Amino acid sequence: MAGLAVILGVFWGLCVFSIALLRWNEVRYRKKGLPPGTMGWPVFGETTEFLKQGPAFMKNQRSRFGNFFKSHILGCPTIVSMDPELNRYILVNEAKGLVPGYPQSMLDILGKCNIAAVHGSAHKYMRGALLALISPTMIKDQLLPKIDDFMRSHLRDWDNKIVDIQEKTKEMAFLSSLRQIASNEASSISQEFMPEFFKLVLGTLSLPINLPNTNYHRGFQARQNITSLLRKLIEERRASGENLHDMLGVLIGKENKYKLSDEEMIDLIITILYSGYETVSTTSMMAVKYLHDHPKVLEELRKEHMAIRARKRPEDPIDYNDYKSMRFTRAVIYETSRLATIVNGVLRKTTRDMEINGYVIPKGWRIYVYTREVNYDPRLYPDPLTFNPWRWLEKGLENQHHFLIFGGGTRQCPGKELGLAEISTWPRLEMLSKCLRPTQGLISLVNRCCSSSVPSFVLILSSAINESLLIFAA
Ligand code: HEM
Repeated sequence: MAGLAVILGVFWGLCVFSIALLRWNEVRYRKKGLPPGTMGWPVFGETTEFLKQGPAFMKNQRSRFGNFFKSHILGCPTIVSMDPELNRYILVNEAKGLVPGYPQSMLDILGKCNIAAVHGSAHKYMRGALLALISPTMIKDQLLPKIDDFMRSHLRDWDNKIVDIQEKTKEMAFLSSLRQIASNEASSISQEFMPEFFKLVLGTLSLPINLPNTNYHRGFQARQNITSLLRKLIEERRASGENLHDMLGVLIGKENKYKLSDEEMIDLIITILYSGYETVSTTSMMAVKYLHDHPKVLEELRKEHMAIRARKRPEDPIDYNDYKSMRFTRAVIYETSRLATIVNGVLRKTTRDMEINGYVIPKGWRIYVYTREVNYDPRLYPDPLTFNPWRWLEKGLENQHHFLIFGGGTRQCPGKELGLAEISTWPRLEMLSKCLRPTQGLISLVNRCCSSSVPSFVLILSSAINESLLIFAA
């Protein structure tokens, strides 16, 4: 009996202590001028709820506090903004002190010269150097032929194999970028490079605690290995005197007006690989899934691609004019990006106390420009949970200011056209989807359904797709 009383006493004491702690934390932040919201526990804040509930957490907080509220997530006091106008204001006002606010692990592993880590004139210069590598002329003359050639060979390897579509799209996004960076060397270095790159990506999404066997530690080591690999690549290229027409060729070329140090070049190459990796691979994977589920869309897409093919011989590559004429394909990609919300939002940080929306946001706070909800706003997208690419053609493909899947303002994605070109030419979306056959649930099987010129595959849509669908349903 006495034991039970002690247990109850301890339990009761813990409850009172927890309530007092939570209350103290709320009062601590209840400064005049801050928006409404809850701050959770000291240090941990509401990170557990945020990670566990995902978009449902955001929805719930919005219903309680409106479109602009405070929280404490991922180790930092954070303002969440879901208001389209405010979001745009935040994105275009970097000069006023709203700089990128990505987690420390990402900045450490991507390098101190990576674009997200630099501001002001340094950002302008690095961005200029990147834009020179992926300009429309570069895409037209150098990159698209490489992408098209790579996509064909990638597809060829799938013949009669069981293919995990998620794994394959990731591989595709990485290898395609590597080929654009170092066209001649890509095949010889990819085996060594790819596993290191995957470790690096995991490291950027981890807690920045440098202990053995942590993802951060492995990511950091992977960065060092990748840096040595790239340094060797640059030195060999310089020594060979070859003038190749790929990104590395432009970077080290004497006529390039952007003179980067080797360290800057390495960080820029890592940025290119990293930025186009999850975005391009997830969009491609989800496009296949949606096309599989919507035969009418697939039919329309096939018509567009057949019309292009009809003008060419089978071995002719897709050229820039073909790519630009793929209006429906682009609409399919936009609709996929909207419905699957490939990017939930972007992070900013205040560099001084700032007044936004009538509140004073203290220096060093993060602002989560949360764009996800806009994608499901029925006033902007009638019947928002329906996959309907035609809605993009009705309103004008590039005429939707609230659509922030590629960000906005000074940091708007410079790789948008490159990413779209890759997804549009990825193993001929229409052929791939033609090969899908529904079986049970979300697993789709492929059989020998394709013409002799197209290989047959078995595709296993992996768990990530299930998760995404659960998110849509929420
Ligand atoms: C479907 C594909 C893609 C999507 C949805 C996407 C999305 C985005 C978004 C939302 C941002 C803004 C980040 C911010 O404001 O903090 C961004 C920035 C960026 N993206 Fe992309 N991206 C895609 C493909 C690519 C590709 C292929 C590249 C390769 C060059 C790339 C390179 C970058 C870079 C370097 C930035 C940072 C720009 C800066 O800070 O000035 N992206 N992207």
